[in-house]
Amino acid sequence: MASLRGGVDESALLPEERSLSEKMAPRRVATFAGGRLAMRRALAGLGIVAGPIGSTSRGAPMLPEPVVGSLSHKEDVAVALAALRAGTENIGVDLEVEEPLRVDISRRVCRPEEIEELGRLGDIERDARVRVTFAVKEAIYKAIDPVVQRYVAFDEVALVFEGESRVAAVLHLDPPGGDFRMELAYERIGGPHGEAMIVAFSRATPR
Ligand SMILES: CC(C)(COP(=O)(O)OP(=O)(O)OC[C@H]1O[C@@H](n2cnc3c(N)ncnc32)[C@H](O)[C@@H]1OP(=O)(O)O)[C@@H](O)C(=O)NCCC(=O)NCCS
Repeated sequence: MASLRGGVDESALLPEERSLSEKMAPRRVATFAGGRLAMRRALAGLGIVAGPIGSTSRGAPMLPEPVVGSLSHKEDVAVALAALRAGTENIGVDLEVEEPLRVDISRRVCRPEEIEELGRLGDIERDARVRVTFAVKEAIYKAIDPVVQRYVAFDEVALVFEGESRVAAVLHLDPPGGDFRMELAYERIGGPHGEAMIVAFSRATPR
């Protein structure tokens, strides 16, 4: 995994990547460049000197064949996760700022059984659980999208939290798009400005 704190600009992009970013707004160019730089560092950690990293038609980073990987960025922070492919798995990573929720997104992000579980939590814990749920589900999406190849709604996955940072997923894919063994994790990290952030990881292996 590689993470990057602090802004980068388009000079971090290779020429082929720069042409992909031509129509992007300046802030988006910065996050795109941060993601590419973080991914190049993650690949370097595997001993791979990466050329330009394109995007698939579904928006995922296009990586060299022996590699699975994923990236996420928020403002001036980017994380990239890369690993040598062991089999048929895909991986996902998601980064979120841990800030108070301005609106209650629980009904957009959670299934009824997850909402019921939220009811057992105090206000602060509840907000934290909703943010983590959002991050973990986005990480799941990035890992299963290469196989299901469609938008997967938040209510097609239920998370079951077991203790501080253990979490499992129950998939309710509709239409059914295969079954996966899901391995999930999340942790809290400090952002570049002292803000708390959540980084969520997923590995999805088709059964
Ligand atoms: C694609 C999505 C997950 C991106 O999340 P985000 O918080 O907006 O942005 P992030 O910075 O975390 O991630 C952006 C990166 O995700 C990657 N990405 C985009 N689409 C992707 C896809 N279909 N599959 C895998 N990775 C994808 C890209 O690398 C992108 O960065 P880049 O364009 O600079 O290369 C989100 O916008 C989305 O559409 N979610 C779909 C619904 C969902 O999450 N459902 C959860 C239930 S499983």
